Amino acid sequence: MKRLAVLLSGRGSNMEAILGHTRPSGTLDGIAQIAVVAANQPEAGGLTIAAEAGIPTRVIPHRKQPRRQFERRLIAALDPFSPDLIVLAGFMRRLSPLFVSHYKNRIVNIHPADTRLHQGLDGYRWAFERGLQESFVTVHLVDEGLDTGPIIGRHPIDLTGCQSLAEVERRGLAVEHQFYSAMIRHLLEKQELSEG
Ligand code: GRF
Repeated sequence: MKRLAVLLSGRGSNMEAILGHTRPSGTLDGIAQIAVVAANQPEAGGLTIAAEAGIPTRVIPHRKQPRRQFERRLIAALDPFSPDLIVLAGFMRRLSPLFVSHYKNRIVNIHPADTRLHQGLDGYRWAFERGLQESFVTVHLVDEGLDTGPIIGRHPIDLTGCQSLAEVERRGLAVEHQFYSAMIRHLLEKQELSEG
């Protein structure tokens, strides 16, 4: 069983979806478990969801300290759980080479747009304001850049007839909640192959 460390900063709907997929007949059933959920925001809703599910949680605030110190503390919190994969799920901090090199090729992120067309915040607003009929969700490995790492997979979001940003988000998140676990499974199976 592979071990996931999930990092988040807010609501945690992707973490909750992944958790659901680790349960019987889910995409990750028998393949992975969430070993720890860590947040840089003490009030992140995802922490409560994880704690209620009996998953260990850690809060590592990022404020009032140099980035390297924050990342060293984050690594010190995660390493005891021996994670096979670091799963960013709405984690709103850029990660420096210190963290990225420690978990080289083992950090994955989900981005609510095509990372080749839009990087950074507000991917759904970006699609809505352009009136796009179709957008994408991207799952990619994390490197030192902002949403620049190698793409693992992209999934289309049908936006035809969307009248509001809320509707764009609703359709996008419905895709995210299935697609992220499928891509995590794909990555873990590849890891298995390269180790075996
Ligand atoms: C998602 O839209 C994800 O693509 C982006 O941040 C949002 C996190 O939502 N990186 P949640 O906290 O998982 O509900």
